[in-house]
This record gives sequence, C-alpha cells and structure tokens, in this order.
Amino acid sequence: MRSGRDHRNVGCALVPEDSIDHATLRHHGDVDARPGMLDFAVNVQGDAPPPWLRERLAARLDTLGRYPSAEEELAARTAVAARHGCSPDEVLLLAGGAEGFAMLPRLSPTLAAVLHPSFTEPDLALREAGVEVARVVLEPPYALDPALVPEAADLVVLGNPTNPTSVQHCAATILELRRPGRIIVVDEAFADAVAGEPESLAGLAGSAAPDVLVLRSLTKTWALAGLRCGYWLGAPEVLARLNHGRAHWPLGTLQVEAITATAEPAAVAQAQQHAKVIAAERRSMVERLTALGIEVHTPADGPFLLLHVPDGALLRKHLAEQGIAVRRADTFPGLGPNHLRVAVRGADAVDRLIAAIRAALC
Ligand SMILES: Cc1ncc(COP(=O)(O)O)c(C=O)c1O
Repeated sequence: MRSGRDHRNVGCALVPEDSIDHATLRHHGDVDARPGMLDFAVNVQGDAPPPWLRERLAARLDTLGRYPSAEEELAARTAVAARHGCSPDEVLLLAGGAEGFAMLPRLSPTLAAVLHPSFTEPDLALREAGVEVARVVLEPPYALDPALVPEAADLVVLGNPTNPTSVQHCAATILELRRPGRIIVVDEAFADAVAGEPESLAGLAGSAAPDVLVLRSLTKTWALAGLRCGYWLGAPEVLARLNHGRAHWPLGTLQVEAITATAEPAAVAQAQQHAKVIAAERRSMVERLTALGIEVHTPADGPFLLLHVPDGALLRKHLAEQGIAVRRADTFPGLGPNHLRVAVRGADAVDRLIAAIRAALC
C-alpha cells in the first residue's frame, strides 16, 4: 500500500532561507525516545555494540593516554579500502556521518540540490554555511526522477536507502544525475543494513568516478551512536577539499579502532547476516501493521518503515503513554503530521507496538 500525503510540495523549490526553521530540521529520533521507552524512534540496531566489538574497544582503553597515530589511521583506511575495493587514499575517516555533511560546504557549490524527504542534516549544514539549496521534494512512491533536479545544481545530495521512506533507488538511476561539473553525494548510512548492498555506489566512488562521493556511517548497524564513526569514499582530490580546514586529530584511538574492526571481513559478514534478519522482520512488520489498517510505504528496503496514519499526533501520544516511542516524520520536508517512522524490530517489541496501536485505534 502506498502512503498518502499531508502537504503537497512536489518538485523543486528554492525555499527562502528566512522560512526555514533550523530547529525543526535538527529534530532527530533521539529526541522522540525518552530513557526507558521501547524505542522505535531511533534506527540504531540494539542498545550497545556486540560483545566482540565492545571487548575490542575495551582492550584499547589504555591508548586513551596518547594521540591516535598516523599508522593507526592508515590501518583503518586500509581496512575500509579492502572492504570496498578501493585504495586507502580514497577513504576519509569521519567522526560520524554528520561530520561528513558539515564538510560539504568546503566543496563550494553554487547551487546544492537536496532530495527530500530525507535525512535533514545535509540540507541544514549547507544552509548554515550560506550555500543556496534547492529542495527536490519527491512525491509517493518517492522514486528518484533525475529530471526534477535543476540543471544548474553542481552538488546533488540524496540518501540510499532513504531515511525515512525506506526507498532504495537504483544505482543506475542515481548515476543518471551525473553532469559535467556536478558532484553526486550518496548518503549510504543504512546501506550495510541491506543484504548484498545491491544499489550501493561504494565500489564506484574514487578516482575512477571523481564526481561520486559516498558517505557511510557505523552508527546504526554497530550501535556506535555514542562513539561517532563513519567515512567518506571518494577521489583523493575531492576528499582533500572536504578535509581542508579540519582540526588536527579529528578522531580518537577508539573511533579509529572501531572503524578498523567493523571493516574486517568477519564483521562485514555479520552485518550482512543481520541484514537478512532485518529483511525478515520488516516483512513481518509490514504484514502486521497493514492488517491493522495502517498504510505502510512499500517497497521498503531500509531498517525502518514509513507509516501514514489517520491522526499521527494522537497516535504518538497514545503510544508514548504506553512507553513506546515512534519518530514523528513531519520534520522531514514533504511529509506531514500523519506520517510516522518506526524502526524495524524483533517480534517481542513488535508485539507490544501492535497491541498498543490496536488499543489506540479502538
Ligand atoms: C540517513 C542518515 N544519514 C546519516 C546519519 C548520520 O549518522 P552519524 O552521524 O551517527 O554517523 C543519520 C543519523 O540518523 C541518518 O539517519
């Protein structure tokens, strides 16, 4: 079933800067989930990293007394490069994907086109740096239409799979956005939650395709939100522009260790195995929510689902009263108050969610 819309704002718009509420753009799921609540609002998998990763990080605690070395940083870039089939100089380590977005203005775009509905940090980071931003707001089924992007845009930013719609765009369609002088930025923060990563451009970004930049985050799959880990994949000269002006020692030894560890083959295999679990849980959630009469946006490929309900604010209130947090989605340009986002979770958590929604709808 396709979700409906509350606001029509389709196509491309240069939204005047003084009409943008920056606080709204900075609203993320962590604000919706208070401690102790059953959390469907934040898309992190689990409460903490898996035991093997915790042990590996704990074993490095004594490195906190010194600065991260160039050798450790190179080892992390080498591990990431091996994971994606590129070279270490095509990897730039980040203190989380959010740091990567904050670097985008260093590419000095004259017009940045940002696809919506999508994660709002790139839009915000570009605006706060004074870059002109054209919002390209897709309508259901939120399929990427390259023709909607202004020809003048020399930077295009989109997510794949996309938060919050869970839509996965075809890599080939993304590449149709390529134009001379334009850089395409693909936020693949959730790509490792998709089995096989079929539409990832991680293997392309680099010297062979200097106009493609891919951002990856370790936050979600590895429950490392509090450590801040991610990386850019791209051509060395583009990465150098992004890196310019950055503080020295931007990542600590534990961040560097986490990036190294999660790029190793056994970790990648574990993530891919978990992606299959997520796919099965997602299928079950779609069935169960649809059976309650909730509109669930499909096809969905991410570890979260976009819902459309009759009264979003009321349902959120009912669920919160029962200790369940879901993500309001009206802070995403193009969505409205009756859109909600829920993380894909296991059967026990979903049992509680379904029971609570059923009670609220009665
Ligand atoms: C789509 C998407 N991209 C990037 C990020 C940034 O993640 P982090 O800065 O934790 O790596 C998030 C966080 O919610 C996200 O949802």
